[in-house]
Amino acid sequence: MSDLSLSRSKPLSGELRLPGDKSLSHRASLFAALAEGESVIDCFLVSGVTRAMLNALTAFQVPWRLEGERLVVTGRGLRGFLPPAAPVNCGNSATTLRLLAGALAASGTPCVLDGSAGLRRRPMDRITQPLAAMRVPITAAHACAPLTLSARAADAPLAALDYTSPVASAQVKSCLILAALGADGVSTLREPGPSRDHTERMLAAMGGPVSAGGPGEGVRVGPLTRPLAPLSVALPGDISSAAFLLVAAAIIPGSDILVRDVGVNPTRVGLLEALCRMGADVTVGDVRTVAGEPVADIRLVSSGLAAVRVGGDTVVRMIDEFPAFAVAACFADGVTEVRDAAELRYKETDRISVLCRELRKLGVKLDEHDDGFSIQGGTLNGGTCNASGDHRLAMCLALAGLAAPHKVTVQNAEILSESFPDFVPLLGALTRG
Ligand code: S3P
Repeated sequence: MSDLSLSRSKPLSGELRLPGDKSLSHRASLFAALAEGESVIDCFLVSGVTRAMLNALTAFQVPWRLEGERLVVTGRGLRGFLPPAAPVNCGNSATTLRLLAGALAASGTPCVLDGSAGLRRRPMDRITQPLAAMRVPITAAHACAPLTLSARAADAPLAALDYTSPVASAQVKSCLILAALGADGVSTLREPGPSRDHTERMLAAMGGPVSAGGPGEGVRVGPLTRPLAPLSVALPGDISSAAFLLVAAAIIPGSDILVRDVGVNPTRVGLLEALCRMGADVTVGDVRTVAGEPVADIRLVSSGLAAVRVGGDTVVRMIDEFPAFAVAACFADGVTEVRDAAELRYKETDRISVLCRELRKLGVKLDEHDDGFSIQGGTLNGGTCNASGDHRLAMCLALAGLAAPHKVTVQNAEILSESFPDFVPLLGALTRG
């Protein structure tokens, strides 16, 4: 697949399970490597970005094997990563690079972390500055990858950190939590909004000295004094992948779908809340806890949508969902406005400008703002657009084609396999009912 052509879809119906959550797959594989003993991770997401993490673990001589969607990792302990022979290629995956930087800071393993041209454009000073304040010997080329971590003497522990990040970012927070495991005291990490807390939950479940305070109090991380326990988990489905199918069902008249076993961590459900406010018929049922994370079955029945405004704390809780949300906005009655979302400019692409540019190619009337966009519902027409090297853009533009009046062709759509390789076959299964 390179170009994807879509025209108006039949109603979607049926139920399905999705591959494992991307954020949890990254964390489970890395934290299992930092534990001592064998971890077994079921429902692991096998995709471009999680392969980047696994390849990096190979470079540090951490043994792992994949049996279908089961990942088995033999942990080497916090200080067991061996120096790689060459720069480690993190591909397109900022999560891989930023989380690894924190883990390597704690382990003291010298290495160079690098990635694709796209990853080299993403800001890294948001981690290198606080890491340097912890006395991590790290340098970056122009505040971007490649990052070089130099050797650190075993008797030179890192300084504990008391830090408020200027951005609400789980990648930054997770990097610093991992580094703090190798510090000489208790670190406190705060951020301006509630970014996803999977790292805190998973490390605590593995016996790590990590505890979350109340709102505004931040996360407290102590030095790791006993090994992390290995994992035995089945990961929930990815709500960020579910988002595309749920929006598809919302905008294709007559649809009714049930997505089972989806992670509904409160730090990730901003899109569900926004869809409800738009009048979508969403039911989150059978909420239970699996491996320390809330999991549910989500049903969506199509209905009319009304425009809303999204801003403030909701933004970080749906940070990956704006491409899907923009398509819902295209089918809503009125002008939908997104604000306080300037962070979208630092994703796989500048997701404000590229999203606006590509939707305009399909006839959508919209305004671009410094910190978001406004979309006039009912103006999507059809045409040719380009995924522009962004997996979520590829899926967003494909969604547009499922309900647009005219055909939509998405060029370079194969990038969607970075996070959701099964997107096209799963959509196909839902159109067959
Ligand atoms: C992620 C955090 C988010 C998100 C990314 C995955 C994570 O990035 O956009 O897809 O797994 O921690 P930021 O922390 O940079 O906002």
